[in-house]
Amino acid sequence: MPVTTTLRGSWLHICISHPPVNAISRAMRRELLDAVTTLQSSDATAALLYCAGRTFIAGADIREMGQADTHPLLPEVMQAYRQSAKPVVACLHGTPRGGGVELSMACQYRVALQSTSLGLPEVALGLVPGSGGTQCLPRLVDTGFAIEMITSAKPVSAGTALRHGLLHAVFAAQDSDNHSLLAQASTWFEQCAADSHPQLPESPAHNSLSENEWCAIEQQLSRKSRGQPAPLAALSLIRAATELPLSEGLALERDEFLRLRESSESKALRHLFFAERAVARPLTLQGVDGPARSIDHVGVIGGGLMGSGISTALLNAGLEVILIEQTEDALQRGQNTVNKNLSAAVTRGLLSQADADQQLARLKGSIATADAADCDLVIEAVFEDMVVKQAVFRALDQHCKADAILASNTSYLDINQLSAVTKRPESVLGLHFFSPAHIMKLLEIVRTDRTSAEVLKSGFALAKKLQKTAVLAGVCDGFIGNRILRAYRFQAETLLEEGCLPQQVDAAVTNLGFPMGPFTMQDLAGLDISWAIRKQQAPARAAAEHYVTIADQLCELGRFGQKSGAGWYRYEPDDRKPLPDPVVESIVLASGDPQSRRSVGEAEIQARILAAMANEGAAILQEQIAERPLDIDVVLVNGYGFPRHLGGPMHYADTQGLVSTLKTLEQLAKRYPYNVKPAALLRRLTAEQRDFNALNTVATG
Ligand code: NAI
Repeated sequence: MPVTTTLRGSWLHICISHPPVNAISRAMRRELLDAVTTLQSSDATAALLYCAGRTFIAGADIREMGQADTHPLLPEVMQAYRQSAKPVVACLHGTPRGGGVELSMACQYRVALQSTSLGLPEVALGLVPGSGGTQCLPRLVDTGFAIEMITSAKPVSAGTALRHGLLHAVFAAQDSDNHSLLAQASTWFEQCAADSHPQLPESPAHNSLSENEWCAIEQQLSRKSRGQPAPLAALSLIRAATELPLSEGLALERDEFLRLRESSESKALRHLFFAERAVARPLTLQGVDGPARSIDHVGVIGGGLMGSGISTALLNAGLEVILIEQTEDALQRGQNTVNKNLSAAVTRGLLSQADADQQLARLKGSIATADAADCDLVIEAVFEDMVVKQAVFRALDQHCKADAILASNTSYLDINQLSAVTKRPESVLGLHFFSPAHIMKLLEIVRTDRTSAEVLKSGFALAKKLQKTAVLAGVCDGFIGNRILRAYRFQAETLLEEGCLPQQVDAAVTNLGFPMGPFTMQDLAGLDISWAIRKQQAPARAAAEHYVTIADQLCELGRFGQKSGAGWYRYEPDDRKPLPDPVVESIVLASGDPQSRRSVGEAEIQARILAAMANEGAAILQEQIAERPLDIDVVLVNGYGFPRHLGGPMHYADTQGLVSTLKTLEQLAKRYPYNVKPAALLRRLTAEQRDFNALNTVATG
């Protein structure tokens, strides 16, 4: 019984208890409807509607969304509350979201604890609020505020909600449970509520915006929500609320909700919602008991781009940090960068000066590895060179306490070879941060052949402290993300040989929803480091490998990207806008076999790139580098700009059908037999008429 009703004096208490977050389920809808019916026939004059546990209803159960609708539907429940002859006071605490906030708007009164935040996050799931949110909110608050709250999907504080009239009263919490909330709510009601209780008007909501303002908001929103229909649909529903009677607006909202629920964008976003939660619980750690090692004091070796970013992230999370460099100069540079990172956060209003000072006070510096002796964890971020890194690991193993964890931030190197030089291989793992490390959410946690479960668990616990989305990966060249990036770049570069120009490939990729194309991205990151790696790898390169030389030719001309004023594009001084360059175009036109250049359409570019990513993902799965397709999707979306509304490369391949992905790959394999090999797993799933999603098991317990 998720909903219980109890008569207490003149009040009917309607209590919802459905741990962990009181999500609205099928059973709850029925019982909520019964409760408001009970109210009408009971001796109570009013009801208090509240939740046990940590929050008022945090939304509807998204899992039920794929299932057949059963009555009563949520809009029917809302209608019954709106039409209640006796007032219902919704008492909010915690993080009410979606259907929870909508239910509160169907009640005659809404009060909350000060610490409450309220949100309508539906557009982040490719939906619109579907149970009255878009029609009720504009009838309660200013039009601009309703638009901001619904289209941004961001929660607002109780104080803000009170100021805008969404709440009637806000109370300070006096105890850790709900008792003070209920007591304060009933006292407030008795003192402040009028004799005639507020009802949502059937007439249209007041429109506080001019035609020009509506147009400007629409334009801004369509720019921001490229490829995603939900925010614009929500906007037009809010507009409808200012034009139509409530009943008509509600019917329109329901139709739009049902349409969006079936859209590929919403399915992709819902897939990621679950995937981003599932990655925190890798299958490998299922049933692994015992605590993680405690990590309070962390050493960072190398204060370059990554080391200083990692130090900033650790300080932000409240940890003690010692940054260790080779020389005093390098150390100073590293500490300055940390300082700059923190100051930038202060400038952007993300951090107070006092907090920044307090964080900086937790940063120590040294040029002696021995000073990492007391650290619980040491993260190495020195040059990407096996010999240099092995020397660091030997020294750390010698100086650090016996139960210290040693981690590498390497992008590509074999971490087994780093753990092999220590006497504690079970305590060595990869912590692959992304640049800028204090901002990017993704963290690949790389297990070697010998990393213990306890140490992996400690890595995930650290990620949680850092508020990062961590994904488990195995050792291979590039782990999950960079390995897929390589397959993607190969397609981008061969497309140049076959007939495209860089700007054409970049446009095809940004039109999919990526923030930038592969060539703009390389110009931003710099072309020189990968050129150096390619030169190192040249002696071992197989004769059969198809090797595109255009990037090498650009580097030979000193074109290293934005930092040298030219790369795949040219740049005007002090301007980062990539401009197509005739020099690059002539190199591209002379590459490959100029006789067989052809016109390549945007759809082909997109299909090739996406199929190549899914295929590399399949190879990664079959080698057990990633546990599940969803892990790969989370990496690409959170670390590589893969468009969220496409759900990640594996989910996207499923939506296209694996048959078509395999067909694209077979054609590529004919052209590039050494470089492109359709993965056996992809062939098997296709033959069995299954999809990647069938492999998305989620840890239980
Ligand atoms: P960087 O060149 O900016 O910094 C490396 C720093 O390590 C330098 O300041 C150097 O003085 C210091 N160093 C070298 N040997 C040392 C030693 N024995 N003891 C103490 N300090 C030492 O390099 P970056 O970009 O920060 O990369 C570091 C590592 O992070 C590499 O393994 C790289 O592959 C990896 N990585 C880089 C990413 C990027 O976007 N740059 C992203 C993810 C990982």
